[in-house]
Amino acid sequence: MEHTSERKNPRRQKALVTGASAGIGAAFASRLAREGYDLVLVARDEKRLQMRAKELRGEYGVGVEVLPADLTDTDQCARVERAAAAGLDLLVNNAGFGTFGSFWKLPLDREEEEIRLNVLALVRLTHAALRKMVERGHGAIINVSSLASFQPMPFNATYGATKAYVTSFTEALAEELRGTGVTVQALCPGFTRTEFQQRAGLRVSGVPAFMWMTAEEVVDASLAALQKGQVVVVPGAPYKALALLSGIAPRQVLRRIGGMIGRSQFAR
Ligand SMILES: NC(=O)c1ccc[n+]([C@@H]2O[C@H](COP(=O)([O-])OP(=O)(O)OC[C@H]3O[C@@H](n4cnc5c(N)ncnc54)[C@H](OP(=O)(O)O)[C@@H]3O)[C@@H](O)[C@H]2O)c1
Repeated sequence: MEHTSERKNPRRQKALVTGASAGIGAAFASRLAREGYDLVLVARDEKRLQMRAKELRGEYGVGVEVLPADLTDTDQCARVERAAAAGLDLLVNNAGFGTFGSFWKLPLDREEEEIRLNVLALVRLTHAALRKMVERGHGAIINVSSLASFQPMPFNATYGATKAYVTSFTEALAEELRGTGVTVQALCPGFTRTEFQQRAGLRVSGVPAFMWMTAEEVVDASLAALQKGQVVVVPGAPYKALALLSGIAPRQVLRRIGGMIGRSQFAR
């Protein structure tokens, strides 16, 4: 039962968002601030994070802490793990990037960074946050995966594999956590207008307008699904159809189609 003092002065909910300086992470931060969450914002660009924190404090009157960190760096990631272990109501593992081209021609160090950020940091932060969440019998983790997680991604091989890890890992945890009061979600967007494509050096002029979503639409779909306890979330009708197709089409067909698209778009 709720204590009287908690009713008078309810504890503020706290969320940590990685990759909060841009794109989907920035949209999560705004939406959660609007809902009254206190926030911890993580990314490398401290100046950008400070600007966003100031805006959110001013607009919504919430507490916003800035925690600049390169999550591919073990020591810097450990600082964020400590913040995650201190007690969160919501962790959004969102920071990520993709590399495109023939795997053997891509710089190996960058491929390793991609695995460190998209997989290793996400696993470490999830582990750090979960213990206290399970102890409290309350909490949620949103792991930002991708539609790319549902099939092999030729010419985007490492990225697709990191996201396949994220979706599989999250689905497995959802079962391990059944009955604990803690929920996890794999958020699997398709093309979303953010800095992602530009950072990856992608030409995306050929992607039809109806295939693009805004970061806000993706975040709305995620948070609505979180209320319902949905584990794998694919925002947008066209992407729901594609995800369904990926689930039923033979793997070798998916590979071949992916190879043809990848060769025409991304082969370098
Ligand atoms: N946009 C899409 O079409 C799309 C589709 C499916 C899935 N996703 C996924 O959505 C997530 C968010 O991407 P986005 O589209 O919002 O991309 P974005 O606009 O490029 O934002 C990426 C965020 O991650 C941060 N980040 C990058 N490297 C980092 C590092 N080493 N350490 C800490 N933070 C780092 C960036 O900030 P700093 O540069 O300041 O560090 C930025 O805040 C990613 O996991 C991505 O794979 C995107």
